[in-house]
Amino acid sequence: MTLEEKASLCSGLTFWKTKPIERLDVPSVWMSDGPHGLRKEKPTKGGGTNIMQPAEPATCFPPAVTTASSWDVDLVEEVGAAIAEEAKALKVSTVLGPGVNIKRSPLCGRNFEYFSEDPFLSGRMGASYVHGVQKNGIGVSLKHFCANNQEHIRMGVDTIVDERTLREIYLPAFEHVVKTEQPTTVMSSYNLLGGKHLTDHKRMLDDVLRKEWGFEGIVISDWGAMFDRVESIKAGNDLEMPANGGMNDRVIVKAVKDGRLDEADLDKVVLRLLKFAFDCKESEVEGAPQHLEEHHELARRAAENGAVLLRNENKALPLKKEQNIAVIGTLAKKLRYQGAGSSHINPPKTVSFLQALDNAGQAYEFAEGYSLKGDGYKKSLIKKALKTAEGKDAVVVFVGLTDAFESEGYDRTHINMPEAHNYLLEELAKVNSNIIVVTSCGSPIQMTRWIDKVNAVLNVYLGGQAGGEATYNLLYGNTNPSGKLAETFPYRTNDSIVANYFPMGPRQVEYREGIYVGYRYYDKAGIDVQFPFGYGLSYTTFEYSDLKLSAKAINENDGLTVSLKVKNTGDVAGAEVVQLYVEDVESTIFRPVKELKGFTKVFLEAGEEKEVEITLDSRAFAYYNVAINDWHVESGDFKILIGASSRDIRLEDTVNVTSANPNAIIPDYSKSAPYYCNLKDNKDATEIPTAQFEALYGQSIPENRPYKKGEFTIDSSVQDIKPSLVGNFIYTVLVAGVNIVAPTTENPEMLKHSIKDMPIRSFGGFTGGILSQMTMDGIVDMCNGTKGGFGKIIKGFSKKNR
Ligand code: BGC
Repeated sequence: MTLEEKASLCSGLTFWKTKPIERLDVPSVWMSDGPHGLRKEKPTKGGGTNIMQPAEPATCFPPAVTTASSWDVDLVEEVGAAIAEEAKALKVSTVLGPGVNIKRSPLCGRNFEYFSEDPFLSGRMGASYVHGVQKNGIGVSLKHFCANNQEHIRMGVDTIVDERTLREIYLPAFEHVVKTEQPTTVMSSYNLLGGKHLTDHKRMLDDVLRKEWGFEGIVISDWGAMFDRVESIKAGNDLEMPANGGMNDRVIVKAVKDGRLDEADLDKVVLRLLKFAFDCKESEVEGAPQHLEEHHELARRAAENGAVLLRNENKALPLKKEQNIAVIGTLAKKLRYQGAGSSHINPPKTVSFLQALDNAGQAYEFAEGYSLKGDGYKKSLIKKALKTAEGKDAVVVFVGLTDAFESEGYDRTHINMPEAHNYLLEELAKVNSNIIVVTSCGSPIQMTRWIDKVNAVLNVYLGGQAGGEATYNLLYGNTNPSGKLAETFPYRTNDSIVANYFPMGPRQVEYREGIYVGYRYYDKAGIDVQFPFGYGLSYTTFEYSDLKLSAKAINENDGLTVSLKVKNTGDVAGAEVVQLYVEDVESTIFRPVKELKGFTKVFLEAGEEKEVEITLDSRAFAYYNVAINDWHVESGDFKILIGASSRDIRLEDTVNVTSANPNAIIPDYSKSAPYYCNLKDNKDATEIPTAQFEALYGQSIPENRPYKKGEFTIDSSVQDIKPSLVGNFIYTVLVAGVNIVAPTTENPEMLKHSIKDMPIRSFGGFTGGILSQMTMDGIVDMCNGTKGGFGKIIKGFSKKNR
């Protein structure tokens, strides 16, 4: 291969395709989002691709928030396998997912696309999905690696997180999937980590991902994330996506020629890319069926398994066919079944709840109750809804988050539903005492204003294309709800200290809370929550008994087998999610009260009893010790807690574990960072002192202030450069342009945020290389008031400077 050919392989041909080399028969392969179905964009008239094209019809499965709540690894694998079948039919070689980022805050706009606040659960779900896809010969892209947990300024924010927290919270899901499933690709994320872009983060991409975890596939930059192409080749970021018009290919060639890049480093990347392309091509088949009908059924089953019954007073559910019902809420008619952004699927059909009622021949009276715009309030709609609800045996009310409330590209600012939804429920409860609420949302919502006034709440999250049918089956008892929350529902947005550090900018986001994310925080601080992690009801009841440990004392590396019996004590069949948490009874270093280390889902006929088994390895007892840069188990007693939720522990026993490394130094934070050691006493604190976070971080944290004229770099965003005259001009022109185009797009808010948050370095990629590196440097110079900027901008358009 010539040097130019090698370099050409390192970036995309289009938005979705890799570059071929015809002379050498190197094929071009197609990648598509992902994760909960395929978004393969239709070719444009000229045969090319772009992001504005509608997608080919493909099954829209429920997104990760819903499938994670099923806690059903087999089901998630089935969904993965089905997506792979559709990928084959559509000639897509790699599905861009799953996303195993942790839900650090309930406010992250992209939470619907991620599995959980817990790394163990995220890892298991991610691995099952990858297994399902890859066993059918299709590749995945495990994303977004790593510490990418807010959407605000997502393309340039610097994540400041201490090593222990990174290892215990943000990396384990990636680690587990890589070690157990060997995903074909990993996507390096937009953000920086400790001041370094993930696309050229040698430590994360080479030392950790490849050397420590044994990753053998290719690393693909998130779309437009590339920063320094030469450094990224050295770090092992193989592919830059999307196409950049050859701009960075030329950078690579030049760097090799002038000795800044060793060709051997490029060769490593190229060999991996070649293997990827040929492997993908080899698994291509002609005429593979898409199985859309079967997959609709699977999507329904996934939605049924992931829905969580949050409340059921007076046995209000399941409904009986003979009950005379009112259905209130536009969301019953206009199904909200997926989140907004790059994962938006174009399903061949959708079934709303009203359609499902019609299909089942179930009579009902319907009223809209609210509009889907803004806060939804419309007096006439509320009046009609109240009238419709009067005198009915049951009133089924659909509420939740509408599209604008949660999306990729920006974060939520609170956990409230649109005001009209809350108000409607309060008013309905005054005219009918049997209110059944169905919530559609991709992340936690606050229910305090009305929850005590309603009989039942079924949280269907986002149910995919068959969401309406699934809801019908659950409400009428054809399926018994068995989902459990994979995240905590807090009472208020700011019940967790994370709220003070989420989202953050203008330069960095500081993960000051350390390991105290989700239930790890609420449990340690002793804070009440609306619904705890792992919570979910059923139409039946389960009894837990006979907890047995394979040993009462073990050496760390022996492993432990835990068994127990679960009995269905009610009169309908159902499935129970048994959760195993481990508590270190006495630890030198601060630790969460307990952590999820195992789970299993068991289906039981009425009256049936089964024994279930969960195995634990040394990692179940370990914390990450930064003094030895390794996982470490302290000798001592550990409680094995078996729960129906994180706050409903049914059985417990103790095992004594002997450390394999008893003499390891254990970092002592009692003086340097007491906040973390005494969280309960500090639970009212609204700030975590900088010095204490620095003690954890092991170095001082950079200053987090807005950029000034003179400080702008290629990494500064459209929003950042506003303080300069030229920057302000660029900002104004782009924002004005976007405001014109936005209303015609699927998600106007996302587009507006994306433009403001876009760094100058991405202008090149997103214009397909029309704006060259020199032009972008010129823009930066002009914003900084540096002489010669304008000249660079102009010269950058000429062929020889590209
Ligand atoms: C998203 C990725 C996605 C890619 C391609 C990016 O903006 O962060 O998750 O796979 O676009 O659509």
